[in-house]
Amino acid sequence: MNREDFPILNSNLIYLDNGATTLKPKSVIDKINEYYSNNSVNIHRGDYKLSLKVEEEYEDVRGKVKDFINADSNSEIVFTSGTTDSINRVVFGFMKNKLKAGDEVLLTKAEHASNILPWLKLSEEIGIVVKYIELDNHLVTIDNVKAAINANTKVISLAHITNVLGDTRPIKEISELAHQYGIYLVVDGAQSVPRIKVDVKDLDIDFLAFSAHKMLGPTGVGVLYGKSNLLEDMEPTTLGGGMNTEFTIDSYELKSIPTRFEAGTPNIAGVLGLGAAIDYINKIGIDNISKHERMLRDYFIAKAEEIPNLVIYNKEITSDTIAFNIDGVFSQDTALYLDHYNICVRAGNHCAKVLKEDLLVKNTCRISFYFYNTREEIDKVIEVLKKNEDIFKVII
Ligand code: ALA
Repeated sequence: MNREDFPILNSNLIYLDNGATTLKPKSVIDKINEYYSNNSVNIHRGDYKLSLKVEEEYEDVRGKVKDFINADSNSEIVFTSGTTDSINRVVFGFMKNKLKAGDEVLLTKAEHASNILPWLKLSEEIGIVVKYIELDNHLVTIDNVKAAINANTKVISLAHITNVLGDTRPIKEISELAHQYGIYLVVDGAQSVPRIKVDVKDLDIDFLAFSAHKMLGPTGVGVLYGKSNLLEDMEPTTLGGGMNTEFTIDSYELKSIPTRFEAGTPNIAGVLGLGAAIDYINKIGIDNISKHERMLRDYFIAKAEEIPNLVIYNKEITSDTIAFNIDGVFSQDTALYLDHYNICVRAGNHCAKVLKEDLLVKNTCRISFYFYNTREEIDKVIEVLKKNEDIFKVII
């Protein structure tokens, strides 16, 4: 990989907010430009060469995604607008028909809003019960999952890697346990698919949701993977053109999976951009991405010893993020201070608003790495954080 591949890095920006979104390499930007400049036609409805060519490329990306997560077939890959959309489709297109009042869904307090709010809405609608697996030092343990399961448990829905503390959940063990009891496993892969190998067959995941923009791709496009027998049983939550074989004044028939889930003109440029992003990641190798991030994080943690008033909340966790505060300083003030030196981090609750009940801290600053970050960038961040007694002079 070459930092020059990322046009935004030609500035003096130190970008450490990769959990929010990643930067885009030129190959992704070029692919999107190529579509809008030379190929901007619709697909699945054009009887001319250009439309068929773009359609073929769009469908090829489905194959790339399938290979990337080792799904069984292209029909298990649904293009959505992102992780949030993907999880909502599972909840309202599948679970709403499968679950009944009193059935229990297990989450944790470390989940992102997109993996809590849809379940709470389903609870309002049909009376399912949302429960939270007890965390052990902020982590999900298999014993705690076991302890949370009872005869009413029907779903476990978890982030694979959490977005604030960055811990990786033991998804393989959880899926073995879940499937022993006939429980569905839904995995929010927004933070894991970009940085570790996620093999849906090996992990035996029922539904996996992730976003293109957190893995070098464009915003507004994502993926829902579902085992084909489950997708066959899922209802589309959006209906319209392109997803029906026939309709009359009072009835309609759906196309097969996955087309029935992609009503309307899809995000063609977005999907093509996702394809270029996967090509880029494959060239680097996903394992090299994980290794590089861990190296950077260990480097940061070691250097941070030099800053006595820096409180790191996930020091003991194997992770690719740093969740921290400067003792006694509001996290957003710290982010503004870092921004003064062109260092981008996220501060706040990071859309994980119930994590505070477990972490006992309302807001944190989060550094989240990706493979283009360097030790030199960390040196600069440490240098700035070291002189944090200046913080209020700088931001006022
Ligand atoms: N979910 C994204 C984050 O963690 C936006 O920042």
